[in-house]
Amino acid sequence: MNKKKLVFSGIQPTGNLHLGNYLGALKNFVTLQDETDCIYCVVDLHAITTFQNPNELKKNVLETVASFVATGLNPDKSIIFNQSSVTGHSELAWILNCVSRIGWLNRMTQFKDKAGSDKEKASVGLYIYPNLMAADILLYKATHVPVGADQKQHLELSRDIAQKFNKDFNCKDFFPLPEPLIPKNVSRVMSLRDGTKKMSKSEESDYSRINLRDEADDIIKKVKKAKSDSEQIPDNLKVLEQKPEALNLLNIYSEISKNSLDKVIKEMSGKEYSHLKTKLAELLISEITPIGKEIEKLLGDKSHLQQILKKGTEKANFIAEENLKNIREKVGLI
Ligand code: TYM
Repeated sequence: MNKKKLVFSGIQPTGNLHLGNYLGALKNFVTLQDETDCIYCVVDLHAITTFQNPNELKKNVLETVASFVATGLNPDKSIIFNQSSVTGHSELAWILNCVSRIGWLNRMTQFKDKAGSDKEKASVGLYIYPNLMAADILLYKATHVPVGADQKQHLELSRDIAQKFNKDFNCKDFFPLPEPLIPKNVSRVMSLRDGTKKMSKSEESDYSRINLRDEADDIIKKVKKAKSDSEQIPDNLKVLEQKPEALNLLNIYSEISKNSLDKVIKEMSGKEYSHLKTKLAELLISEITPIGKEIEKLLGDKSHLQQILKKGTEKANFIAEENLKNIREKVGLI
């Protein structure tokens, strides 16, 4: 493997992937596989930090692999596997639990959001979730991590953990400090129902998100129903920043049409939102529905998807075991 740049990223198998996963992460995954060595992981151990129906989880792991491949990941170029099949993730996570600090975890905003008001009832797994994420990355000594903006704080924690490990065990540069690769334009796709919340699988209303498996009719309905604004589209960003739902629609339009936000604002200013929505729905249909169809097709051959995972697991495990030998040695485990 190329030692210079190694990419690692993961996605939870918790149901349908959506436009946020696509623009924030998957599109970048695909671009990167042509530039360097890449490892992409279906993070099933992260998923079970909140209860998952076991049969649903199995189904969702395969559906996530299908989504990876349908968006353009090539299993001959990138390593694609599921986290629990390489036991090194859990082993390193334990070691890193002993390096990471409680004070650091207490600052994680995602835990606060996910645990809600009754933190005492959240699983311990949910609390130490970021340490497992650090283990995912450091197990392969990955140098770059493509993620959406919501994962930035977790990436910073991974860097802190890497740095502390290198210092505690007196092994400067042993773990590289992983750099986040966050898309410049749409790093956070927002909910179609509330422009202050990120688009997410866990939001109750399906109208809040565009799923990769949505059909043309669903996309039209969802975009039509998306919150916007009662006035016409303004001609400058300052005004738009006060209207998060409108800004979100324009941002998505800008990203999918491959035009800068400035250009899109010029094109749309003075027009009704219904005009923007019609054009946006057309673009989304042509970008998303072919992916959905490909996912369906791939799901028709489960053994092919299992084969992709098996091959990926073998390759990932090989790298993981090599690195773990050195990690155990550094820590003094015999
Ligand atoms: P997850 O499964 O929540 O999301 C997968 C990826 O999609 C991005 N994303 C978004 N980007 C833009 N706008 C949105 N609305 C949006 N929603 C999701 C996420 O930023 C992420 O890149 N903890 C991670 C998974 C993980 C991981 C890792 C990532 C586990 N280990 C190691 C990188 C490296 C997560 O829950 O992602």
